Amino acid sequence: MSRFLETLCMTALLVTVTGASAQSAGSYPGVGRDATPKEVAAWDIDVRADFKGLPAGSGTVAQGQDIWEAKCAACHGFFGESGEVFSPLAGGVTKEDIKTGKVANLTNTTFPGRTTFMKVATLSTIWDYINRAMPWTAPKSLTTGEVYAVTAFLLNLNGIVPDDFSLSDTNIREVQQRMPNRNGMTTEHALWPGKEFHGVNKPDTKNVACMKDCAPAVKVTSLLPDFARNAHGNLAEQNRLIGAQHGVDTTRPERAAGDAVPATATPVATAPQAKPTQSKLAEPKPAASSNAGSKAALALLGKYNCTVCHGLDKKIVGPAYSDVAKKYAGQVDYVAKKIKAGSAGVWGPIPMPPQPLSEAEAMQIAVWLANGAAK
Ligand code: HEC
Ligand code: HEC
Repeated sequence: MSRFLETLCMTALLVTVTGASAQSAGSYPGVGRDATPKEVAAWDIDVRADFKGLPAGSGTVAQGQDIWEAKCAACHGFFGESGEVFSPLAGGVTKEDIKTGKVANLTNTTFPGRTTFMKVATLSTIWDYINRAMPWTAPKSLTTGEVYAVTAFLLNLNGIVPDDFSLSDTNIREVQQRMPNRNGMTTEHALWPGKEFHGVNKPDTKNVACMKDCAPAVKVTSLLPDFARNAHGNLAEQNRLIGAQHGVDTTRPERAAGDAVPATATPVATAPQAKPTQSKLAEPKPAASSNAGSKAALALLGKYNCTVCHGLDKKIVGPAYSDVAKKYAGQVDYVAKKIKAGSAGVWGPIPMPPQPLSEAEAMQIAVWLANGAAK
């Protein structure tokens, strides 16, 4: 038995022995505490395929259209047709699909692209996803009624419910019976590469843990091709919304398997440090023209997740900082004001919401931008 399994079994035993009589706090005195019922309720928002977990409520197509235009259309298009931030949500489904429950266009090789409603089998997934994750810039900001309404609007866009429809917890099961791809869900495929590449056809979700006589060594059979490595911009300049987890520098080739790992994790995007030179005047330089100023500004970009939408040299959702710097050289006040207030219509159809940082912090970033956005 491997060390890992041994430890796992020991832990399982300990938990069964102590778990029955003691609370978790009792097993590990001084470590953590039980979650309160309110905390559990705040996490426990999933809506399952059989609609278990769906809160009571309702919303109409017409209400949904107003919400859509105010809060969703900027990214997804007025008719859910935009491919700007994600593949289109609406389109590609027919009345016949609603009857059969299988979307014909999924097997039509001449049909361009696959929309959300072509693929999704369960309406609960749409409801749940909007409820937990949308709008992208303000997840969980919609009321239950608003989620019903905007879901009703999307159903209407796809021809699944009529214009005067009101979606509710009491009729949602009937609507599920009209989902165009409700019978199209399959596990008869691998995520990637599919059977069209190697004949691999085993569903990723049907793996069974191997307990003995497992394969002696892992053999890598496919790698991300070089041309795809930097396809989403330099991951080192981007940041996840939670935690400061920077990705690898995708502008450089991947380390070969045998390469030594550098002893210290060096931040990827730092410029070579200039040696501090003694100035006779010893004037304190304005922070931003110095290395320290850039560092502080870059840290703020990470702290406020600006890097989710802006790359240093690459457009993501918003413009590249190098382009912003070019456009507003010297215009510190303008830039600071725009960061705090948000922006719309200058760079494209997607607006930037107001940013929740202090005036001093906005100023610090603005000084850095207006001075050329040094790395
Ligand atoms: C700022 C841009 C933005 C706004 C505003 C926005 N979305 Fe999204 N939406 C996205 C992005 C980006 C994704 C893909 C996210 C991902 O895959 O992690 C997405 C994904 C989705 C999906 C899932 C599609 C799929 O096939 O997985 C739905 C449904 C959706 N959005 C609905 C909405 C609704 C409803 C609103 C308004 C209440 C809204 N969105 C507002 C950017 C946005
Ligand atoms: C949700 C995505 C998103 C986030 C997060 C975000 N931005 Fe933006 N930003 C945008 C978009 C989109 C634009 C273009 C808006 C426009 O066309 O007017 C933009 C524009 C800008 C501009 C140019 C404004 C102008 O008038 O031309 C600056 C400066 C800027 N952002 C700085 C920041 C800073 C600093 C942060 C973090 C504190 C930040 N952004 C966070 C999406 C974002």
